[in-house]
Amino acid sequence: MPDTSDIAARKADHLTLATSGDVAFHQKTALWEAIDLVHDALPELAVDEVSLSTEWLGRRLRAPVVIAAMTGGTARAAAINRDLAAAAEAHGIGFCFGSQRPLLARGIEDGYRVRDVAPSALVVGNLGVVQAAAVPTARIRELVEFSGADALAIHLNPGQEMAQPEGDRDFRGGLAAIERIVSELGVPVLVKETGCGLSRRVGERLAAVGVRYVDTGGAGGTSWIAVEMHRADPERRALAARFRDWGIPTAASVAALRGLPLGVCATGGVASGLDAAKAIALGATCVGVARPFLQAQAEGAAALDRAIEAFIAELRTAMVLTGCRTLTELHTAPRVFAEPLPRWIAAAGGSPG
Ligand SMILES: Cc1cc2nc3c(=O)[nH]c(=O)nc-3n(C[C@H](O)[C@H](O)[C@H](O)COP(=O)(O)O)c2cc1C
Repeated sequence: MPDTSDIAARKADHLTLATSGDVAFHQKTALWEAIDLVHDALPELAVDEVSLSTEWLGRRLRAPVVIAAMTGGTARAAAINRDLAAAAEAHGIGFCFGSQRPLLARGIEDGYRVRDVAPSALVVGNLGVVQAAAVPTARIRELVEFSGADALAIHLNPGQEMAQPEGDRDFRGGLAAIERIVSELGVPVLVKETGCGLSRRVGERLAAVGVRYVDTGGAGGTSWIAVEMHRADPERRALAARFRDWGIPTAASVAALRGLPLGVCATGGVASGLDAAKAIALGATCVGVARPFLQAQAEGAAALDRAIEAFIAELRTAMVLTGCRTLTELHTAPRVFAEPLPRWIAAAGGSPG
């Protein structure tokens, strides 16, 4: 296991870079601009009739939004997670811890307890597949129970690891580890990317070993390869710079997974409630938002509250303007695609029709 202070220093770097650094994709977008929902000029519904409620990871959400996995393992992370979790509780949305590796490696508890401020919110634990593969399921269950989490997210991040100076270089055995944990853990398991997206082929392989929930973690929002680029030595910085725009755009990843026996959360460049409406129209059950909510939290808890409220108001507006009373209706709302989205969906293994 690496030294704990290294992990804590890395987590601190990540937070600073994600809040104020140049870490967005440069050329690539999530492709929300390549899908339009068709306007309904005569919606036979009242705003208050619109239901945003959905079920995710075995829990009911008041709105189909989760605060995506970001942080833990430092005092600063602890304060951030308390704000994020309290906001999730207030809005009836989900909250995800960042990687619990610091807790696993050396028992660092900072930031991994939020149940006192979020007694009833959906709370999701988090571990990288490489770390999860290296420990028995009982040890992972202890982490989940320590944090009072309802479910565990296992993250896949080979792009970030390849760009990270101290990153993992051996990705063998990931699927077998996921199969073991899904069958033994006893709480729902979600498998997520962290910014490079999931293809249909990966979705099929996950479904075949019993996974029921995935998160696209698609390209177009925060680029983890860009984050690592800022931390790297000159040689690896050049490699990371080459790959900073690597990945499947989130909209294409969501559409490519449609029809598989998987609940899909769309994360990666979901910056507004309108983006969320498009993701749900493409087949997502809910959306995840990481950096935009982190940046709002940096302005204070009230700013975070306003950001979540505005996000949900936009989603509700899109539902009214498409004449959709429920999220199920939104799944089949008429839409228009522009290139390169259909080409991307086909290339990621989906049906662009
Ligand atoms: C500061 C920060 C830390 C993150 N740490 C983790 C992590 O520990 N585990 C994980 O699965 N994803 C992590 N992510 C990835 C996010 O969950 C998400 O997949 C990615 O940032 C794309 O979403 P965005 O475009 O809304 O930022 C992190 C993201 C940010 C911004």
